[in-house]
Amino acid sequence: MIDLTTTYLGFTLPSPLVVSASPISEQLDLIRRAEDAGAGAIVLPSLFEEQLAIDSEDLDHHLSQHAYSVAEALTYFPEPAAYALGPDAYLEHVRRAKAAVDVPVIASLNGVSSGGWVHYARAIEQAGADALELNVYFIPTDPLVAGAAVEAMYLDLVRDVRLHVGIPLAVKLPHFLSAIPNMAHQLDLAGADGLVLFNRFYQPDFDLDALEVVPNLTLSNPAELRLRLRWVAILYGHVEADLAITGGVHDAQDVLKAMMAGASVAMMTSALLRHGVEHLGAVTLDLRRWMEEHEYVSIRQMRGSMSQQHVAEPAAFERANYLKVLRSYALRMRPGVR
Ligand SMILES: Cc1cc2nc3c(=O)[nH]c(=O)nc-3n(C[C@H](O)[C@H](O)[C@H](O)COP(=O)(O)O)c2cc1C
Repeated sequence: MIDLTTTYLGFTLPSPLVVSASPISEQLDLIRRAEDAGAGAIVLPSLFEEQLAIDSEDLDHHLSQHAYSVAEALTYFPEPAAYALGPDAYLEHVRRAKAAVDVPVIASLNGVSSGGWVHYARAIEQAGADALELNVYFIPTDPLVAGAAVEAMYLDLVRDVRLHVGIPLAVKLPHFLSAIPNMAHQLDLAGADGLVLFNRFYQPDFDLDALEVVPNLTLSNPAELRLRLRWVAILYGHVEADLAITGGVHDAQDVLKAMMAGASVAMMTSALLRHGVEHLGAVTLDLRRWMEEHEYVSIRQMRGSMSQQHVAEPAAFERANYLKVLRSYALRMRPGVR
């Protein structure tokens, strides 16, 4: 019997397939169906800092300091109409989601500033969430704000939330960080139990007729997985926190790659929005079939087997392989050369 169990944030999950934060998990019916189809855990959509009645001086200060960048970031958020849940309704949704399924329910807070609003983390814990995912969505556009200051802001936020809750804490990270392993190490020290790689930033487009910048939310494609595979493969074995992959996980092959890189779970949104939550069932079947054919008995057995520590050519994840990759392409392009 193939064992699909995995551990994430201190829980033993029946499957590494996790539904990531999106409008899917805003609906109880879809949450139940996702569990029936094989989800190992559910991440609820985020409660956004901007949705909270904020009177914290900290935040006022932050907004006046970074008014331009925060306002700009806001216009790129996923369509807020889908996020009708205010703070009270959000807490009620946490309670209902917990009652609806047996698998762990992970709530999500989305914000950038440390301050009064983080006390909602405790309210979320009291509402029964099994864990909390913190999505730090910040676009640093101010030339006077250095990278180190942005990283310090992330760490302050994580420490602050850590102080307020006892449940496991995962942090969803952007890939726009200059030294990801060091940041991961610092997040370990700040109290993160899990790192979710990576946040997808929704890039605005230009409308050439209206000459306007328009928000544009496109679903992911499987090629986006590679960035996550590389960094999970590099981090595996070097951080205490569990690693989760979000972004570009569409089928069983993607899940297998995520596990071999060293992830504890593989999260899905775009594929479920495209094919429905029952897609989880099809992916689980394919996963089992592949493992059977390749004589794997458990997810545990394959975890990290393709991480940088374990592959025959560790440089494949580094710059050393850059030249080789470019050369291999140039050769293929020359007429008559295969
Ligand atoms: C419509 C939509 C809404 C989303 N809402 C949230 C959210 O509330 N909080 C969050 O952290 N991520 C949110 N995400 C990001 C997803 O959780 C996920 O990280 C991202 O889509 C990449 O995974 P995928 O390739 O499986 O789609 C949303 C994504 C989509 C497409």
